[in-house]
Amino acid sequence: MSSDLDLVHTFREVWAELSGIGRAPDGGYLRFAWSPAEVALRDWFHAQAASRDMPVTHDGNGNLFATWSPAAGASGAVSGRGDGNGPGGVLTGSHFDSVPHGGAFDGPLGIVSAFLAVDLLRARGFRPARPITVAAFAEEEGSRFGVACLGSRLLTGAIDPARAAELTDRDGLALGDVLGAAPAGARPDLVAGFDAYVELHVEQGRALAAPVGVASAIWPHGRWRFDVEGEGNHAGTTLMSDRRDPMLTYAFTVLAANKEARLRDAHATVGRVEVTPNATNAIPSAVRGWLDARAADEATLAALVEAVAKKATERAGRDGTGIRFTAESTTGEVRFDEGLAARLAGLLGGVPILPTGAGHDAGVLSAHLPTAMLFVRNPTGVSHAPAETAADADCAAGVEALARVLEELSSTPLVDHDEGVAK
Ligand code: GLV
Ligand code: MN
Ligand code: MN
Repeated sequence: MSSDLDLVHTFREVWAELSGIGRAPDGGYLRFAWSPAEVALRDWFHAQAASRDMPVTHDGNGNLFATWSPAAGASGAVSGRGDGNGPGGVLTGSHFDSVPHGGAFDGPLGIVSAFLAVDLLRARGFRPARPITVAAFAEEEGSRFGVACLGSRLLTGAIDPARAAELTDRDGLALGDVLGAAPAGARPDLVAGFDAYVELHVEQGRALAAPVGVASAIWPHGRWRFDVEGEGNHAGTTLMSDRRDPMLTYAFTVLAANKEARLRDAHATVGRVEVTPNATNAIPSAVRGWLDARAADEATLAALVEAVAKKATERAGRDGTGIRFTAESTTGEVRFDEGLAARLAGLLGGVPILPTGAGHDAGVLSAHLPTAMLFVRNPTGVSHAPAETAADADCAAGVEALARVLEELSSTPLVDHDEGVAK
């Protein structure tokens, strides 16, 4: 890869290897964790790693790690600290899984870019002083088992593996059954082997005008399931005054979420609903919805969810229904290491530093490691939908930027282990 044009061409070629996997007729992707499509992407990961002599290991939680180790013969080690002494590795990567009918870039771009960044560094004759490991994290979207960033939460001990094993998908299959065993849970031995994590990701709104940017923060966010119970009955014979219709409570809750979010410059979405029995000519007996809420700070998020729940409960009283909110997945505010973000933005020529409302494994890992994110421009601002895209030239710029960041971080001291502080 001797020129920018070569890099664009190489990116396009490698990207094309993935584009048919899990693609639905609408152009969106169905790549749920451990589905055949996602397993095919994992197979691709193994093949890519093998072709680069990067041994692959997994953590018992569904997360994969492929390592370029500087020490000859250090095959199989995920970390340079296999003997307890060497420098910790630099971890990079992202996830393969998608939301239902999601875009091609959310997740896989970070993994493809990581392998291509390794190629770029090798082509330039770079030899890292510390290992560089490419990760594929499992179930980042939480689209199958309901908990976002499930793989990185398990790895870092942010979720109890016994609880995780019992999470079920839409077909009632439990995670433990899908994995064939309970997940391993926290692996501090693995996490301690890394001194930094850098995740490259497509930007998911219209906030980035330059080809590449660096993340400053992730809004706190979460998912609350709400179950509304009413009385199923005949659509033609039940007087309007006699009804206990959960659909009304549900509809009011959606509108209340929209209003309360707007009042606080926050975001609220109800994008998933299940209706029982889902018949045109029957008043439903139950409606289940999922509220996704996000705000700039935790107090605002808490106030938003509380206001929606209060209004919905009052409305349920008037409708003669019952409503219950259950938190399924919550994530606190993430502020990425400011010094590291500024250093990387400077290294990349003064690129923008920006926050995001989208969740990432980087947010989970940032509680354990100096962590940074690189964003690649999204020309449409669309994400979690088939129209999500990024220009080949911007993706190539992302690979180049990631290579520079990995070169920097794998050459220099990152953490003062006496003080545990990122330099
Ligand atoms: C993940 O992409 C999320 O923000 O929900
Ligand atoms: Mn996503
Ligand atoms: Mn993502």
